[in-house]
Amino acid sequence: MNEAFDAVDIIGAKRDHVELTDAQIDWVIDGYTRGVVAEEQMSALAMAVYLNGMTPGEIARWTDAMIRSGQRLDFSGLSRPTSDKHSTGGVGDKITLPLVPLVAACGVAVPQLSGRGLGHTGGTLDKLESIAGWRADLTGSEMRAQLEDVGAVICAAGASLAPADRRLYALRDVTGTVSSLPLIASSIMSKKIAEGTGSLVLDVKIGSGACMKELDQGRELAETMVRLGTDAGVRTVALLTDMQTPLGLTAGNALEVRESVEVLAGGGPPDVIELTLALAREMVAGAGRPDADLADALADGRAMDVWRRMVRAQGGDPTVPLPEARETHQVLAPADGMLIELDAYAVGVAAWRLGAGRARKEDPVLAAAGVQLHVKPGATVRRGEPLLTLHTDTPDRFERAIEALDGGYTIAPEGSNPAHRPLIIDRIA
Ligand code: URA
Repeated sequence: MNEAFDAVDIIGAKRDHVELTDAQIDWVIDGYTRGVVAEEQMSALAMAVYLNGMTPGEIARWTDAMIRSGQRLDFSGLSRPTSDKHSTGGVGDKITLPLVPLVAACGVAVPQLSGRGLGHTGGTLDKLESIAGWRADLTGSEMRAQLEDVGAVICAAGASLAPADRRLYALRDVTGTVSSLPLIASSIMSKKIAEGTGSLVLDVKIGSGACMKELDQGRELAETMVRLGTDAGVRTVALLTDMQTPLGLTAGNALEVRESVEVLAGGGPPDVIELTLALAREMVAGAGRPDADLADALADGRAMDVWRRMVRAQGGDPTVPLPEARETHQVLAPADGMLIELDAYAVGVAAWRLGAGRARKEDPVLAAAGVQLHVKPGATVRRGEPLLTLHTDTPDRFERAIEALDGGYTIAPEGSNPAHRPLIIDRIA
């Protein structure tokens, strides 16, 4: 077949800071999906984008071309409005688990397509797979039926959803081109727009445990994604939230499910509750139900009821005890004083090394592995008291997990004033 463009010319243009035309972008994404643009050519183009960036017009077209590379779901015929949330990923970020049933309990359907974890951040599907029998793969008609019946679905994105992004994301992962703002924004938003949600809230994490370490970068990413969503007809807002320390008191799959169930039962750590309610407020407002009583839905057990129905609808048994690690190891406070820092990245790497995460896409994860926090920054500690408990099935993993935590926490003299970091830093609409 006669091709309209040559990949080498497009790579050369991006290398030389020449803005790509709509037709070039459409062709290169389509050509990559068809296999006409080779992996090494797309690698070179991704690196040129990484180094030279993209204009807002290029990002919008690139996103649109990735959406058009596959199927676009449509839930407009459902009897309730839809809303979804996407987090850019962090340590202990289990918010999806209590959030989705809570929002569904308030009459808003949530069609959440999630992923698995890679590196030090966990993945929602990995967490849910620690529940006996739960399955992530649903057909389109199963997803629609569950949305109509239960109002909440968390499942894996099928191969037909933005297939260009699926290939490009895997390629970026092995070519040092993940942390590029245009590529992250277009990757996330192509999937969320193709998913067919009516409104969307983005949780853009900032700090050591997030992909965006600096506030300015996170703000730019949030603004770019909000613009992409809004221009595509999806009501989109973003919260910038802190990821300098882990969310809640657990990082690891089954540990995080347990903590999420505590939140649904009316308990749980204050930061997890605060962020769940803040994101839920945005979701119900985006779906046109701003007056929904979220705190009531948590307190009176309606959200828990949706959780159980959602887990059962996907083959899971919420009454079966979650897996527990065969081995534990406590990390003790080395001195009296105040814990002023507990670094999210250090805890994330420790949980990963204990077996909670994977280094390659095809690696299995250990459901019971992870890190449990006994204290959060701002707490007073006594020498010898436990700061953290490490959980794993294979004790030879402890040494490298402990190494990851070296320098990851700071105990200052009692009475010190730790820097106050608000959990919710800003809102972008
Ligand atoms: N998540 C995605 O889906 N894509 C990215 O590029 C980064 C995070």
